[in-house]
Amino acid sequence: MKEILQKDSIFKVGKVTSVEGRTIKIEVDKSKNGAHLLYQGKLLRNISVNGYVKITKGFTKIIGKVEGEFIIEDKKFVNKNYTSERQKIKRVLQISLLGFFSKRGFERGIKELPLINNECYLLDLQEFEDVHNFVKKEDDPLTLGTLTHENNQEIKVGVNDLFASHIGIFGNTGSGKSYTLAKIYRELFLKYIGNSKFKENAEFFFIDFNGEYINDNVIIDKVHKNIYSLNTRTEKDKFPISQDLISDYNFWALVLEATEKTQKPFLKRALESTFLEEQLINNDDLLDFIKSSIYKIIDKEDDNFNIAIIIDFLSHLGECLTNSNIWETLSQIRQNLHYNSTTNGFYIEPNNYNKTEVLRYLENLLSTITFDEIQSDSLLKIRLRIILQFHHEIINGFSNIEHLSPLLKRTPPRINDLRKVIVISNEIPSLNISIVSLRDVNIQMRKMLPLLICKQLYEKKKEENIKEKYLNIIIDEAHNILSTTSQRESETWKDYRLETFEEIIKEGRKFGTFLTIASQRPSDISATIISQLHNFFLHRLINNNDIKAVERTVSYLDKLSFESLPIIPTGTCILAGLSAQVPVMIDIGKITKESEPDNKTMLLIENWKDELD
Ligand SMILES: Nc1ncnc2c1ncn2[C@@H]1O[C@H](COP(=O)(O)OP(=O)(O)OP(=O)(O)O)[C@@H](O)[C@H]1O
Ligand SMILES: [Mg+2]
Repeated sequence: MKEILQKDSIFKVGKVTSVEGRTIKIEVDKSKNGAHLLYQGKLLRNISVNGYVKITKGFTKIIGKVEGEFIIEDKKFVNKNYTSERQKIKRVLQISLLGFFSKRGFERGIKELPLINNECYLLDLQEFEDVHNFVKKEDDPLTLGTLTHENNQEIKVGVNDLFASHIGIFGNTGSGKSYTLAKIYRELFLKYIGNSKFKENAEFFFIDFNGEYINDNVIIDKVHKNIYSLNTRTEKDKFPISQDLISDYNFWALVLEATEKTQKPFLKRALESTFLEEQLINNDDLLDFIKSSIYKIIDKEDDNFNIAIIIDFLSHLGECLTNSNIWETLSQIRQNLHYNSTTNGFYIEPNNYNKTEVLRYLENLLSTITFDEIQSDSLLKIRLRIILQFHHEIINGFSNIEHLSPLLKRTPPRINDLRKVIVISNEIPSLNISIVSLRDVNIQMRKMLPLLICKQLYEKKKEENIKEKYLNIIIDEAHNILSTTSQRESETWKDYRLETFEEIIKEGRKFGTFLTIASQRPSDISATIISQLHNFFLHRLINNNDIKAVERTVSYLDKLSFESLPIIPTGTCILAGLSAQVPVMIDIGKITKESEPDNKTMLLIENWKDELD
């Protein structure tokens, strides 16, 4: 009993003097103005900003966080007998309420508000532990780091709470996002990698824009990682993409940056036309189709449909059919077939206007065209479809050449880029940990590939719909593909992207699919996406718009935490969300040197001095 009384008298810091909504003011006892207290031979840190208080209201213990501190000088009672000047000063703390203790331990949220004159205490060690114990009984703990203001307090989160959720990691460049990302996944992998069920049921997919995670030991040993180092300059690794996705005109609308009104519908016609499909079944049919298209031009006897159209058509075909003798045919046509605008007719030789002979001449010439490679190459088939549809529409007067030719021009380079980085396969493997590095791909592919890959992964997951299977897509530098403000982007691109990511973020949970995004510019990322994130790791954020973007969505974060955002040191962040019952500032734990992401800030003097002192 004596002990309890003694503890109470030492731990008691003051009493409630005002209650305004969630904000409480406490007047601190005058004897408790030191920085530390002594209890059972141990030095305890006294109440101060960032600390916690326990307010007792009968049997209820309410927990609050100290957000501010100020003093009031006791001016009215000048005649009082103060033994020292210090005693004239009243210390007042401003508290925001966080939660309360129940039978089950600490719980977030407020059921009751304190009353004036309720007594306030420091938290003892056990209570402090309980407030920071975020791991539910049935969950596995994962240690991420230590509390910034109380370095010997480890912060553990529950694996279920953190990884069955969408995670956002935000902070300015160099604030430690990639390190934090690597740390949380490394801890997770180290814990489960030895389990065969983990390997079977969990899929982690890292989209790595800068090649930070591909080196041998980064995050986890390379034997556990499937690395795709994609490269648009030389042929290196290739990512498997399914035939289904390749046959989707939306995919091509994106790759070819098709305009919404004319080019996208054109692509739909080109890729979904059964008529074209029939022409492409074998080489003879294709040849017949080419011939009949050319005869049609000749039949038109129209000045607008002069020989240039025939030449264009055959050259387009020649450009994609590398093993074809089409160029020889073309040069013959160039030499011998002419158009006379006064007679409105085609002729061969100086004066042979006889149409039957012109056609017979062409028939002989075109019949020699060979093409061998079409059937085995899906990308080539797509390109052919686009060319054939284009000329079919132009020749028949369905479409306007000016509207479609930019699309036709973009097709060959884009398909060539794609060829270097994807392989079409109907067997898309499910792998435990995969990393796709986009460091060496050009700017268009950098934007497109992550979308295509994520779309494919998610569609496959949805289709399978196996309850035990888990998919986590991790995107560092997510502003590259999730920004809302890119002026150059076409509507098609925006639609496809929003469809994909917003769907994952809204519906993914039901299909066991989760996103982790790290970004320097939360304000650039679509608000729909940010508002659906469940867990936040907030590093230093200087820009006001970024802070506001976070503030709008992380409603339960206290004012103090927001105010400290611009001044958080590297490697420290605020963890808030489902996995943390109170927002906490943590120092992210260390990763062994060789497992850190490969993104060191350059040390200039090391490179500039001949000898380092
Ligand atoms: N918890 C930490 N402990 C030790 N060093 C850290 C920690 N966090 C970050 N660093 C170091 O700080 C530097 C920057 O960190 P990091 O690359 O993770 O920042 P970033 O926020 O991802 O930056 P960027 O936006 O440019 O990618 C790195 O050299 C990293 O090793
Ligand atoms: Mg980074």
